[in-house]
Amino acid sequence: MFGGVSRSFYLQEEVMQRIIHPKKKKKVTKLKLDMLVKEQEIFEYLKPTTTLDDVVLHPKTRETLQTVVRQVDKNVYKKLREWGIKDKRKGIDARIIFYGAAGTGKTMTAMSLAKTLKKPILSFDCSKILSMYIGESEKNVRRIFDDFKELSRQAKVEPILLLNEADQFLSSRSEGAGSSADKMHNQMQNIFLEQIEKFEGILIATTNLLGNIDKAFSRRFNHKIEFKKPGRKQRLRLWQFMLPESADYEEGFDIEELAKHELTGGQINLIIKNTAYVVAVRDESVFAMSDFVAEISKELGSSFDGAKSMGFKV
Ligand SMILES: Nc1ncnc2c1ncn2[C@@H]1O[C@H](COP(=O)(O)OP(=O)(O)OP(=O)(O)O)[C@@H](O)[C@H]1O
Ligand SMILES: [Mg+2]
Repeated sequence: MFGGVSRSFYLQEEVMQRIIHPKKKKKVTKLKLDMLVKEQEIFEYLKPTTTLDDVVLHPKTRETLQTVVRQVDKNVYKKLREWGIKDKRKGIDARIIFYGAAGTGKTMTAMSLAKTLKKPILSFDCSKILSMYIGESEKNVRRIFDDFKELSRQAKVEPILLLNEADQFLSSRSEGAGSSADKMHNQMQNIFLEQIEKFEGILIATTNLLGNIDKAFSRRFNHKIEFKKPGRKQRLRLWQFMLPESADYEEGFDIEELAKHELTGGQINLIIKNTAYVVAVRDESVFAMSDFVAEISKELGSSFDGAKSMGFKV
């Protein structure tokens, strides 16, 4: 009807979203970070489902995390600014290491902190660094931080940076002239140090390393939080928290009995799932203590921890 003239207009996603949802400004930025992350391969955009209230934490750990959370408090910020501790940047600054055994809730806590702070969280799996481009790990380290900054800038948000399994970044640096692999490793760690020093915002590194975190890193992190294996009381809470509420349990089923087994939260989570698969296929789906005990002994028999303690005698 316009005489064969056709015109096409291109609207940027952001503009389009603003037209469709004029009031939902927050949602638009979130959506955008989500989309930006899809276009790259370095980071994963995590969607936390739990808050800090859902994690079974040592009271001291909870206290430390509360200190971090409270930095958003206007009065707290005002004081820190007066004392010259903080500059104009309003956001929270914290560099945190979570260290401890596998399955003790390090990753879950990082994600829960994000949800509590209503911040998005971008995760980088550090074990990937060596496989990205062989021989260029130093460059890759820089890229993590550069790309993170760029994504934050484009999406106009301040996500938490989660460096999962950061063992090789944090382990002791080898001294003296070692092999060329050692040198490369040291170089990579030096760049990591430098980037940590400059980092603004919240950075959480998780690691299984217990003792040998390099002192130079230690100094650059404000909080180093150990995740211990849960004691009996904590295990009881973990079972209570994770067992399906709507399921049927045999008469006299006693959670205290379950809590006696020395398991981490990760193992309890796995055992509940495995038991559920077994029970669900039965006609009468009632959870019995014996079902759990069977899965527990399988888990303890097969876990690497168990394997280690049964290791060869020398
Ligand atoms: N302290 C805890 N409170 C509540 N749930 C927990 C806790 N610890 C572990 N879990 C459960 O175990 C799962 C695995 O925990 P998570 O992945 O956080 O362990 P991790 O310490 O990061 O282990 P890894 O060192 O292997 O990465 C969680 O998703 C959660 O269901
Ligand atoms: Mg983890």
